[in-house]
Amino acid sequence: MGSMTTVPAFIEARRSIRAFTDEPVPRELLDSLVEAACLAPAPHHSRPWRWVVIDTDDGKRALGDGMGAQWRVDLAADGVAPERIDELVETSRVKLMTAPALLLGCLTWDGLDRYPDETRRRAEWGMALLSLGAGVENLMLTAADAGLASCWVAAPIFCPEAARDALELAETWSPAALILVGSPSPAYTPRVRPPLPLDELRVAR
Ligand SMILES: Cc1cc2nc3c(=O)[nH]c(=O)nc-3n(C[C@H](O)[C@H](O)[C@H](O)COP(=O)(O)O)c2cc1C
Repeated sequence: MGSMTTVPAFIEARRSIRAFTDEPVPRELLDSLVEAACLAPAPHHSRPWRWVVIDTDDGKRALGDGMGAQWRVDLAADGVAPERIDELVETSRVKLMTAPALLLGCLTWDGLDRYPDETRRRAEWGMALLSLGAGVENLMLTAADAGLASCWVAAPIFCPEAARDALELAETWSPAALILVGSPSPAYTPRVRPPLPLDELRVAR
């Protein structure tokens, strides 16, 4: 893979794996993934992230139904055909229900700097999101290292209030990143990773 040869093997080894066995993931293992996420760098010594461990059918159903209801509204507003909406929402619901565990990363303003202007408020929130993303990568690398499969799912960032209310989280928690976790289904092969065209992706000055 050319320029990838200098990347440590454990970085390359992490893949998005979207199919799992039924085997539950022990709570301690899930906690260790959250702990890894919480070792991420964060702006000015804040810890703006909060995590929700969801490994019960009730929890998964609540989150799937809550986010699904909002997605239905959004898809209908986009003019998507009702049968297609049913299909999309159901596929997504099944994905959540069949993952042994879900880890939901949220952000709060706790510890973040407050600014009177929108520009800096956005920048501050953006920093917190970057930090959460760093945490998610820590989490997924730790999962891969433990032989677990994981996949980051975008949904909650499109409907943070729906996700928050579905799980009865504090109003100050804003869901932003969902990670499916479980033992990898032996039948699943990750998509081929396209070559990395470094010369198109970076410049030097
Ligand atoms: C912010 C974010 C959102 C993502 N959302 C989804 C998603 O909703 N469903 C999904 O199957 N994969 C999702 N992914 C996983 C990407 O598709 C995956 O990381 C990418 O294809 C690269 O593959 P790799 O992770 O195996 O290297 C998401 C990744 C990121 C970073």
